[in-house]
Amino acid sequence: GAPFLARQGRELCLEGHALAELAARFGTPLYVYSRGAMLRAFQAYERALHGRRHLVCYAMKANSSLAVLQTFAQAGAGFDIVSGGELARVLAAGGDASRVVFSGVGKTRAEMRQALQAGVRCFNVESQDELDTLNAEALASGCRAPVSLRVNPDVDAGTHPYISTGLKGNKFGIAHAQALGAYRHAASLPGLHVVGIDCHIGSQITQLPPYLDALDRLLDLVEAVEAAGIPIHHVDVGGGLGITYTDETPPDAGALVRALLQRLDERGHGHREVLFEPGRSLVGNAGVLLAEVLVLKHALDAEGKNFCIVDAAMNDLVRPAMYEAWMGIEPCVQRDGPAPVWDVVGPVCESGDWLGRARALAVAPGDVLAVLSAGAYGMTMASNYNTRPRAAEVMLDGPRVHLIREREDVRQLFAGERLL
Ligand code: LLP
Repeated sequence: GAPFLARQGRELCLEGHALAELAARFGTPLYVYSRGAMLRAFQAYERALHGRRHLVCYAMKANSSLAVLQTFAQAGAGFDIVSGGELARVLAAGGDASRVVFSGVGKTRAEMRQALQAGVRCFNVESQDELDTLNAEALASGCRAPVSLRVNPDVDAGTHPYISTGLKGNKFGIAHAQALGAYRHAASLPGLHVVGIDCHIGSQITQLPPYLDALDRLLDLVEAVEAAGIPIHHVDVGGGLGITYTDETPPDAGALVRALLQRLDERGHGHREVLFEPGRSLVGNAGVLLAEVLVLKHALDAEGKNFCIVDAAMNDLVRPAMYEAWMGIEPCVQRDGPAPVWDVVGPVCESGDWLGRARALAVAPGDVLAVLSAGAYGMTMASNYNTRPRAAEVMLDGPRVHLIREREDVRQLFAGERLL
C-alpha cells in the first residue's frame, strides 16, 4: 500500500496532513500527492541500480503535472514520453531532453522534428515505416536520430487485456521475428544511429517471470543483432511494475531490478546500460483523489442498491469505468454507526460512472471520501465530459502544502470555441 498514508485518530492523513482539512481548504474533487512517497518509490529503483550504468525514465503518462516532473527531474530521473506535448512538459518542468526516450506507435513528423531539435536521448521506434520517416526527418534536419527498436517479445504479462502490450496481435512494437531485419534496415539508413533495444510488455504486472522471459527474448536478439555487426548500447526493459490496490502482491522495485540485473549478468550482458520506464510504480500510491458526498440514495427493497453519489466522477478518474479497476475508498474522517454497502458513483450521466462498487462505509452527505492509489492514470486521463472542470491538484512536501494546479474554470473550457 501507501506508506505515507495513515490514520491519526479518526483522521486519514497523507504525509501527516489531514485530508479532510485539505478538502475544506482547496475544495473537491481534489488530487493530493505526497512528494516524499514519489521520491521514495524512485529511490527504490535507484538503490538497486547503484553501481550500474542506468537511467530510470519516468513514464510521465502516469502523471504529467509539472511539479511531479520537476520532482523527478531534480531526483535525476529521465523521462519516457509519448507525444510532443509530453516533451514540452518535460522542458517546461526543467527536465533535460538528453534524458528523454520517445516511445509511441504513431509519432507524427512534426513530433519527430520537435524531438530531434530538442535532442532527445533516443527514439523507441515501433515499425519499419517509422524508421524510414524518422530517417528522412533526421536527414532534413541535418542530424542523425538515435534509435532503439521496440520489440514485441510475445510474452503474456498476465494483466488486463487493455493494458497488456507484449503479445502477438497487439499493435505495439516490432514482431520478434522481424526485428533482426529491422535492425539491418536501420543500420543501413544514414539518418539513423542504432543505440539500443527496448520492450514494454504491459502494465500492472504483479509477477517476475514475464519480465525475465521478455529479457531473455530481448537478449537473444541483442546477440543476433551484434553478430550481424550492429552494436547495441542499452537495453530498455520498459515499465509495467504493478502496485497494491487491494490484495495484489507485486514484487518491489528492488526485487525486480535485482532479478533483471542477475539475468543480464548470467548471460554475459552485465556491462550494458539498462533503462527502465516505470510509471505507475513511481506515483500510483503517492496520491489520492478526494470527493465530497453529495447525496445518499437508499435502496427501495432488498434487491436494490444503495448509491453514494460524490462530486468526483469518471471524468476525474476513469480507471473503474474503463477497466473495472478496483480502487480503495476510505472516509477522510471516520464516523461511528452502521456502515451500509454502497455503490460509490459520480454525477455523470452514464451508468458506467462509478468509482467503487459494494463498499461498506459509514457516511453522511458532506463527508469527504478518499479514493486511494489515484496518483497514476488519474489526472492524466481526466476529461471535461459533462462540461466538468478538471480537479485541482496539491502536492505535500513535508510540512509544506503546494497548490500545483488550479481548479479549471468553466470559462477555460469553451475559451477556444466560436459561435457561428
Ligand atoms: N513504457 C511504455 C512504452 C508504456 O506504454 C507504458 C504504459 C509505460 C512505459 C509505463 O507503464 P507503467 O509502469 O505505468 O505500468 N491507463 C492504464 C495504464 C496504461 C499503461 C500504458 N502504457 C491504467 O490506468 O491502468
